[in-house]
Amino acid sequence: MKDGKFLTLGIESSCDETAASVTADGRQVLSNIISSQIDIHTLFGGVVPEIASRKHLENIDKVINGALEEAGVSLDDIDLIGVTHGPGLIGALLVGVAAAKALAFAGDIPIVGVHHLHGHISANYIAAPDLEPPFTAVVVSGGNTDIVDVRDYNDLELLGASRDDAAGEAMDKIARVLGLGYPGGPKIDALAKQGNMHAIDFKRVTLEKGSYDFSFSGVKTHVINYVNTERQAGNELNNADIAASFQLSIMEVIAEKAVAAAKEYGRDKLALAGGVAANSLLRRLMEEACRANGIEFYRPEPVLCTDNAAMISCAAYYKFKAGHVDGLDLDAKPVLDFDRF
Ligand code: KG4
Repeated sequence: MKDGKFLTLGIESSCDETAASVTADGRQVLSNIISSQIDIHTLFGGVVPEIASRKHLENIDKVINGALEEAGVSLDDIDLIGVTHGPGLIGALLVGVAAAKALAFAGDIPIVGVHHLHGHISANYIAAPDLEPPFTAVVVSGGNTDIVDVRDYNDLELLGASRDDAAGEAMDKIARVLGLGYPGGPKIDALAKQGNMHAIDFKRVTLEKGSYDFSFSGVKTHVINYVNTERQAGNELNNADIAASFQLSIMEVIAEKAVAAAKEYGRDKLALAGGVAANSLLRRLMEEACRANGIEFYRPEPVLCTDNAAMISCAAYYKFKAGHVDGLDLDAKPVLDFDRF
């Protein structure tokens, strides 16, 4: 507690970002330190789990101390520690969970484990101080494409998810095929701006009527086959048109399903979250669809969309306020059901 404010230290290490943050009263960010490993994993074209764990281990103390220092507080001022305990890479998660438990034990501070997706959704509470549940949330990241009905801060229902590739994963794979490098999402986003999104009619998979699930492996294969066929025929590829058309085929389906879910569940607010929420086309399509349907659209700034610990800190705060506390037996869970957040 400092200046009458409840301070939460958040820790995130589920994939390739080592992050720590201090928030006051859940939603005010006092510090948000993110140490990205992207440069190392770029050399391999994707995240190498063993390297990620080792880098987390090297960075975690520095990042936590940096977050406390930037917030101008010490561990004695911290009222709660929130940590991502799943889902994610097991070796990576273990580093954050072990650090959080050690600090909780040393400082006699309560600890709360946070589901990574719950964290992503909570980034919206930080970005929009007036946002209150209920609302529809769409989490689009490298590992997930989910539509969630947020009934209350700790009462969330998963309405649909990707049955195969997540949107970010499909974008990263197509970027690799086009030789754009890793991570592919931002590269496709940038290149698509120079292309014609209606140049190539790539597959759109909407699945059964009324389903909020997604499937992106079909469009991914369609693009790969298109690229191979054109290359074999000796035709020059227009990468900008491919990027733009592929991006449209993914983002259009996400925006359509998200707005349909909000309408079916009677929600007048829709919040975007996850790394792919930084995508400029997705933001535009969602904004337009929401406006046309009288839905208020929320999306955090890009730094709160990709993995960070401020969102984890915020989610932990609301769990703690609702009476949830974990013990020092809190474990890292590579697979964690959404209803166990
Ligand atoms: O949420 P995040 O940082 O990590 C996961 O939890 O997965 O999301 C990373 C994903 C990557 O697949 C990356 O390519 C994608 O987000 N991404 C984007 C953009 N910025 C990041 N995808 C599309 N457009 C962007 N501007």
